[in-house]
Amino acid sequence: MKNLLLLFCSLLLSEVMYEVNHIIWTEGHSVTLHTGLTELQTDHQILWMFNGESKIIAKIDRETNETSIPGNNDERFRDRLKLNDTTGDLIITNIKTSDSGDYKMEIRGGETKHKTFIVSVIGEENMSVMEGDPVTLHTNATRIQAEDVIQWFKDSLIAYSNKTTTTTGRFVMNSDGSLFILKIRSKDSGVYDVNITGSKHIHKRFNVTVTGEYPEYLYI
Ligand SMILES: *[C@@H]1O[C@H](CO)[C@@H](O)[C@H](O)[C@H]1NC(C)=O
Ligand SMILES: *[C@@H]1O[C@H](CO)[C@@H](O)[C@H](O)[C@H]1NC(C)=O
Ligand SMILES: *[C@@H]1O[C@H](CO)[C@@H](O)[C@H](O)[C@H]1NC(C)=O
Ligand SMILES: *[C@@H]1O[C@H](CO)[C@@H](O)[C@H](O)[C@H]1NC(C)=O
Ligand SMILES: *[C@@H]1O[C@H](CO)[C@@H](O)[C@H](O)[C@H]1NC(C)=O
Ligand SMILES: *[C@@H]1O[C@H](CO)[C@@H](O)[C@H](O)[C@H]1NC(C)=O
Ligand SMILES: *[C@@H]1O[C@H](CO)[C@@H](O)[C@H](O)[C@H]1NC(C)=O
Repeated sequence: MKNLLLLFCSLLLSEVMYEVNHIIWTEGHSVTLHTGLTELQTDHQILWMFNGESKIIAKIDRETNETSIPGNNDERFRDRLKLNDTTGDLIITNIKTSDSGDYKMEIRGGETKHKTFIVSVIGEENMSVMEGDPVTLHTNATRIQAEDVIQWFKDSLIAYSNKTTTTTGRFVMNSDGSLFILKIRSKDSGVYDVNITGSKHIHKRFNVTVTGEYPEYLYI
C-alpha cells in the first residue's frame, strides 16, 4: 500500500478524547475515515463535519435510527460520501484534490469523543497538448484561504503565492491556484508540481507533453 502514508498521533485531554490522524491518498481512490468503533451503541450519535464548517456532512443517530448524508447534496461531494451503519465510518469514494482538508468526527453518547482527520490528496494528470494552445493546469482546489501558500515547480520554483507576495514569471496564476499558460511551447513539456499548504494540503503532478509545431512569429 505505497499510496497510503498514515501518520498517527493522539492526545488525551481530560475526559474528552481528541485524536488527530493524517491521511495522504492519491486521487480516484476510496478513503475510509474510521471512527474506531467496532459497533455503534444504542445511545451513540456520530457527526461528521468538513473544513471547520459547522455544517454536518454525515450523521448517524442510533437513538432514532436516523442516517443522513447532507454532504451528498453539496456540489463538492455530490453523491461520493457513504456511511458504514455498523461502525459510523465515513467513506469518501473517488476522492478528489478538492476533498483535501479537515474532517471532524464527534461521537456523542456515553463519553464524547472527537477525532480529526487531516486528509491530503495527491493528484496526477498526464496531459498532451498542441504547441501554441492555451493550457490550464487545474489544482481543483476550493476556497483558497489567506493562509494558503501555493508553490509551482518545474525543476525549480516557477510560481509562488502567499498572503503578501505573488510571483508568476511568464505564467498566470488563477484565484484557485491553477496555472495558466497562454501559448504553450514545446520547451514547456515536462513535469509540473503544485503544492498548496495552509488550510489544506494539496499536491498535484502534471506530466505535460507538447506536440505539434507553432510558427515562432505567432508568439507575441
Ligand atoms: C434501531 O435499530 C436497532 C437495530 O436494527 C433496533 O434494535 C432498535 O430497536 C431500533 N431503534 C429504534 C428507535 O427504532
Ligand atoms: C462496515 O465496517 C465493518 C468493519 O470494518 C465491515 O466489516 C463492514 O463490511 C462494513 N460495512 C459496509 C456496508 O461497508
Ligand atoms: C501517467 O503516465 C504514467 C507513465 O506513462 C503512468 O504510469 C500513470 O499511470 C499515468 N497516470 C494517469 C493518472 O493516467
Ligand atoms: C478539475 O477542474 C477542471 C476545471 O474546472 C475540470 O474540468 C476537471 O474535471 C476537474 N477535475 C477533477 C478531478 O475534478
Ligand atoms: C510571503 O513570501 C515572501 C517571499 O518569500 C516572504 O518575504 C513573506 O514573509 C511571506 N509572507 C507571509 C505572510 O508568509
Ligand atoms: C510537496 O508535497 C509533497 C507531498 O505532500 C511533499 O512530498 C513535498 O516535499 C512538497 N514539496 C515542497 C517543496 O514543499
Ligand atoms: C511523462 O509522459 C511521457 C509521455 O507519455 C512519458 O514518456 C514519461 O515517462 C512521463 N514521465 C513521468 C515522470 O511520468
